[in-house]
Amino acid sequence: MKGVATSMEKQWRCTVCGYIHNGENPPEICPICGVDASYFELILESDKPNTDTTIKPVAKPIIEQPDKEKAIRQALYRISYGLYIISTHFEGRDNGQCANTCFQITSDPARLAIGINKQNFTHELIQKSGKFGVSVLNQTGQDHARRFGYRSGRDTDKFEGLAVHRGESGILLLDDALVTMQATVLSQMDAGTHTLFLADVTNGEILQEGDPMTYAFFRASK
Ligand SMILES: Cc1cc2nc3c(=O)[nH]c(=O)nc-3n(C[C@H](O)[C@H](O)[C@H](O)COP(=O)(O)O)c2cc1C
Repeated sequence: MKGVATSMEKQWRCTVCGYIHNGENPPEICPICGVDASYFELILESDKPNTDTTIKPVAKPIIEQPDKEKAIRQALYRISYGLYIISTHFEGRDNGQCANTCFQITSDPARLAIGINKQNFTHELIQKSGKFGVSVLNQTGQDHARRFGYRSGRDTDKFEGLAVHRGESGILLLDDALVTMQATVLSQMDAGTHTLFLADVTNGEILQEGDPMTYAFFRASK
């Protein structure tokens, strides 16, 4: 009798979707949501037939919800990012800034996007030159993030004393980076305080082996 717990049978419930399974053991795979047997809990061990096989809603984990604004901020805070030095060059002037908002859009063509604050000197130079470089930080790049992330290049030369090389496009790139890329702006979108620059990657170079710095790692190690 399918769906009915017969004499001395056990009944199991999927803790993810609520699916009920009758049998000595839980199913290897939940036929409804696909999780494995470890997600099933024993809910009945009976010698009486049980005809109630309706899928019951599973209680949500009890995490106290903050107000709507706070919940949105906390949710955004949990998006993971890498950390990058975005550099640019226009009419003899070099500058760079730290950014976490740099991400691949497509691999073919090699295309990425960056989100840059309109107040930043880097923003001004990218808009004027239509190009930028990306140096992908390794996990010891905290000083680079601080150097490029906490002051503006309007008042200072952030590259002074730093080991750098100039890419084919004329943009300065960090020697101490996992990889670097150079990119040409394809289009830009006004995102309020920031501009989203969509760009084609024209060059890439591999400088080091290792893991990239993430924003979370930077926060935890600074
Ligand atoms: C960890 C970190 C991540 C940052 N991410 C961004 C970002 O994604 N976009 C942005 O516009 N600014 C970002 N900033 C802020 C800029 O790096 C900062 O405003 C910088 O001083 C701008 O320099 P500039 O005026 O020379 O261009 C970040 C700063 C830090 C420390």
